[in-house]
This record gives sequence, C-alpha cells and structure tokens, in this order.
Amino acid sequence: MDEHVPVLLEEVMTMLAVKQDGKYIDATVGLGGHSEAILKKLGPCGRLLGLDRDSAALRKASKRLGNERVVLQKTAFADMSAVAAAREFSQCDGILLDLGVSMMQLKDHERGFSFQSEHRLDMRMDPDQEESAWHFVNKASEADLERILREYGEEHFARRIVRRIVAERRNASIDTCAQLADVVSAAYGRRGKTHPATRTFQALRIAVNREMEQLQNGLAAAEGLLRAGGRLCVLSYHSLEDRMVKQFMRNSAREGRVLLLAKKPIAASRDETRRNPAARSAKLRGCERL
Ligand SMILES: C[S@@+](CC[C@H](N)C(=O)[O-])C[C@H]1O[C@@H](n2cnc3c(N)ncnc32)[C@H](O)[C@@H]1O
Repeated sequence: MDEHVPVLLEEVMTMLAVKQDGKYIDATVGLGGHSEAILKKLGPCGRLLGLDRDSAALRKASKRLGNERVVLQKTAFADMSAVAAAREFSQCDGILLDLGVSMMQLKDHERGFSFQSEHRLDMRMDPDQEESAWHFVNKASEADLERILREYGEEHFARRIVRRIVAERRNASIDTCAQLADVVSAAYGRRGKTHPATRTFQALRIAVNREMEQLQNGLAAAEGLLRAGGRLCVLSYHSLEDRMVKQFMRNSAREGRVLLLAKKPIAASRDETRRNPAARSAKLRGCERL
C-alpha cells in the first residue's frame, strides 16, 4: 500500500494554525500527507520546507506536492538547523514531527522492517546509512543487544532472547527478518495477543536509526527555529518517544520559552483508529514559542 493516511490530520492542523503567508517545516514529510494539508492553507507567499532521511519517500512526496512553494531536502531532522538556515527558514511559524516509520517503509518487505519479511534484516530509514539491523543482530555484543532490547523495547525477556540469538548466530548468521522472528518466538515459548517479536523489532529499529538521539536533538533544534508565536507539533507512537516529548515540552514551559498547547496528549478517536490502524498508538503534543 503506497497510500499513507495522515494521522490526526484535523487535530494537527488545528494545533499548527497555519498562517497564509507563514513558513513551515514538515521535518518528517514521508509521503506528504500532512504537507499537502499545510500547503492547502498556505497562500502564494507561504512556504514549506519538507525534510526526510528517506530519499524514496521524498521522491514520492515530490510527485504529490510538486509546487513552487515547497522545498524538499534529504536530511535527518536532528540536523534541521543548518538546512533551515541555508533555506531561510530560521524564523519559522510552525514545525511538525510525525515520528517513526511510514506505512510505505513498513510494507515494503525489501526494506526489512517487518517480521513477516523474508528479506534481509535491514530497517534503515536512510538506505545510505552503513549499519543495518543485520549488523546489530549479528555483530553487536551480547551486553549491547540486551541493553537495546531492554531500553528500547521494554522487553522483559531480553536476556532469554539475546542468549538465543547469540547461540544461533554462532552456527550461522541470522539473515532475514523471518529468521529473527522465529528465533525470538522460540525463546519466548508462548504466544500472547501480539507477536512475540514485536518488541525486539521495535527496539532494533530504534537502535538502527538512533531514533532517541534524533528526537532529543530534533526537538531542541525545532524549538530554536521558531519565531515568537511559532508552533511545534509532535506525533509520537510509543511510550519512550512520548515521554521524551512530554519532558522536553514541560521543561521548556517551566523555563519560560514555550506555552503548552494541550496539557494532555491528543489521541485518535475510535473512528479514526478503525479507519487507520496506524493511528492506534498516536499521541499529539504541541507548544508555542514565547
Ligand atoms: C510516519 S511517517 C510521516 C508521514 C507523513 N506525515 C505523511 O503524512 O505522509 C515518518 C517519516 O519520517 C521519516 N523520519 C523518521 N525519522 C526521521 C529523522 N530523524 N529525520 C528525518 N526523517 C525521519 C521517515 O523516513 C518517514 O518517512
């Protein structure tokens, strides 16, 4: 499925409160769903800078958005300050971060994100990056792997799973997603509602893409780029991300740099979740620069 349904679109648009002649940064442009809605609100003098670290996503977004008011650039959002300065977006009116992977990335089995994939373990959002999930699974030390599963997957059975991985890879490398899913399932030895490999895959994806470092640095960069009255909106999809966003915004509010736009995170309605399962765990938080 190429079509990506933007999550919490109405709520994001209300929170961003796009000004006709404003400058906006969509720091995770993906397939351009949110960007398209922002563009609709922008007048002829408004401008949008769209970033993503996946060039395949940017190619698709450019077909969808192709417009003289948009500039698209391959950049990891932790590095957005330099790009924004070069493109004259240093004083902007709003920034959106819609975290995680897109449906396009997840469902393209060759990208190796899904435990159903028979392809090589990969999970790189930026295919130009050197280290993939294969490297972590086959080359990382036992202690590092265990820490990754515990920290990023909040996986209670981290030790048991990692022991099994290490025993398996001594015989032969674990090459495909499906192979890793089987190893994890065998270590679990029981099945619940969710696939036993869900947490392991989430943890590896976060580690491979350095998602927590990206988020910490991206939030700070974004806050620094907003003019007074400019708004930062962040959509997160798991508790580690949401905790980081919450703490960052609360801290900035306490120190008098921003005003929180909602005390509690905004979640998708039951109706939206039914229509778009990707919205199930989404949480939206926002703040305004003072
Ligand atoms: C959930 S999708 C965004 C979907 C988009 N809002 C839409 O409506 O089509 C997340 C996108 O962010 C990108 N991404 C994730 N982390 C990133 C980072 N640190 N820097 C730049 N792009 C990132 C992914 O490659 C993916 O394309």
